[in-house]
Amino acid sequence: MAIERIVDVDAHESGDEQEIEVTLRPQNFKEYIGQERLKNNLKLAIAAAKKRGEPVDHVLLYGPPGLGKTTMAGVIAHEMSTGFKVTSGPAIERAGDLASILTNLADGDILFIDEIHRLNRTVEEVLYSAMEDYKLDIVIGKGPAARSVRLDLPKFTVIGATTRTGSLAAPLRDRFGHIHRLEFYKEDEVVKIIRRAAKILESQIEPGAAELLASRSRLTPRIANRLLKRVRDYADVNGDGIIDTKVTTEALQLLEIDDLGLDAGDRNLLVKMIDNYSDRAVGLGTMSALTGDEASTIEDFYEPYLMQLGLLERTPRGRKVTHKAIKHLGKDKQSSLL
Ligand code: ADE
Repeated sequence: MAIERIVDVDAHESGDEQEIEVTLRPQNFKEYIGQERLKNNLKLAIAAAKKRGEPVDHVLLYGPPGLGKTTMAGVIAHEMSTGFKVTSGPAIERAGDLASILTNLADGDILFIDEIHRLNRTVEEVLYSAMEDYKLDIVIGKGPAARSVRLDLPKFTVIGATTRTGSLAAPLRDRFGHIHRLEFYKEDEVVKIIRRAAKILESQIEPGAAELLASRSRLTPRIANRLLKRVRDYADVNGDGIIDTKVTTEALQLLEIDDLGLDAGDRNLLVKMIDNYSDRAVGLGTMSALTGDEASTIEDFYEPYLMQLGLLERTPRGRKVTHKAIKHLGKDKQSSLL
């Protein structure tokens, strides 16, 4: 089914984790911590659209996973008081799937398309004219009897999300009036996000523990909230439920998250690069072969944070580990590397 979730912004989903995720998600700008530049831009766009009684121009949000692209789309829908339909690039397989989604929209609705860079070409082309002039061009019938019809669509807003704008075809990118990058959060913002989530989960967390957790969360709210839930499990089972620095340290050790927030997967990638190639440049395909991960997982998930920390560098000849990474992993004490 092409529409994965039709939600109004207050909807709860089934399944424990999902339900928690949804309730932890901020619903409006006031609750949304961080991404100040983006929020200011969107607030202006929303105020202008409301004043004119029009939908907001199409919005493209890009950046690493877990930084709140879907959440922000929900916030826009909430602030505009419009319907919010959620789908994703890979879910819309044929032009007909897109046609049925578009013809079921109401005036002003927001259509959120996650992983929009994974839309196939035919679907993408139907989307162009739909976004540009709210028309749907469809071909009815086959062979000599085929004819093309143009249907009017409601005035809607597409919010597209992608981890990379580079993989988006230029004609599609050009249809977006707002193109914004979500940045990694500042550590003090992650502390606030953790404290807010703990309050919603009715968990008591000490300030030092929130700071410790924030410093291990890859500056990413989704990871912060996930770690919070795991530490909460640990505190409930091994203590009195209060999340202090002692249980946080122990739980993080159990999860193999180190003091830079790297997990076993990150360290495995860096160690394999160092052991096999020292600090020489390595191609993405080689990195993928070293760890067995898809190249896209390396590019979207591992790389942004490792580069943000200065552990990995991109050069014209490929990616290379930095001396900071070699030192962090204790590889500088070994033999011929430095
Ligand atoms: N939960 C996840 N992301 C958040 C954010 N940016 N602000 C508040 N709570 C959040």
